[in-house]
Amino acid sequence: MAKRSAPSSSNVASLADIQPVGAARAQPRLVELAGIGKRFRSGPVATVALADIDLAIGRGELVSITGPSGSGKSTLLAILALLDEPSEGAYRIDGVDTTTLSPSAVAALRNTRIGVIFQSFNLIGDLSVELNVELPLIYGGVPAAKRKQRVAEVLELVELSHLARRMPVQLSGGQQQRAAVARAIADDPPLLLADEPTGNLDSRHGDAVIGLLCALNAAGTTVCLVTHNPAYARMATRVVRLVDGRIVEDARS
Ligand SMILES: Nc1ncnc2c1ncn2[C@@H]1O[C@H](COP(=O)(O)OP(=O)(O)OP(=O)(O)O)[C@@H](O)[C@H]1O
Ligand SMILES: [Mg+2]
Repeated sequence: MAKRSAPSSSNVASLADIQPVGAARAQPRLVELAGIGKRFRSGPVATVALADIDLAIGRGELVSITGPSGSGKSTLLAILALLDEPSEGAYRIDGVDTTTLSPSAVAALRNTRIGVIFQSFNLIGDLSVELNVELPLIYGGVPAAKRKQRVAEVLELVELSHLARRMPVQLSGGQQQRAAVARAIADDPPLLLADEPTGNLDSRHGDAVIGLLCALNAAGTTVCLVTHNPAYARMATRVVRLVDGRIVEDARS
């Protein structure tokens, strides 16, 4: 798959300047979920987190996923990120059925295709901010000089250049979230999954992160954004709403 050029700080405009472009460019499916269900079992009790999920996302779409707490948004994102397996159903990326792949093939697919911004930041505690951001580039086999350049670039995008040498524990919640954003976008993945990426941010930094996701989308990245914020949800050209683990609305604007 061809790599796209990632945005630099100079072409990330303010939220108000950014026009969602996903629907206009939506192309054949990048991901396809068919009949996906997910049950969690603890002892005799099973929780149905997802049921009958059919969802196809085209290349270049910007999809927001909304719904009340406990409706299955994070579970859906974890399945899309290949971090959790569905209890039933099929998940294809680029036409490849992920359920038939070996664990190492799944890991390779995840490393090369998917960036994730978690609801809880999941930074590695004993690595500095810059090393956390560099990690996906090391996994991706990017040469050292290029890695340093890209790490500097993405840390500048999230306004964390001055904290590059700090350990995660020495950052505020919002700064950790921005470091997690930098790590997720470092290797310019074709599919970016973000679970409440603005949950710990003030409005200025929240707007900046959403602006960055929109700019990445404009440059070709397919983005799925879980958000409770109606203004951010409206930035997407498609809104998928979950209630009790089911899709109750899938609206394109
Ligand atoms: N590991 C788990 N074991 C058991 N139940 C789980 C597990 N993870 C999630 N659940 C349950 O699955 C359902 C969906 O959870 P999920 O985290 O996907 O919700 P969510 O929509 O992301 O909520 P929030 O907006 O609060 O983040 C909830 O009922 C939750 O309690
Ligand atoms: Mg969640």
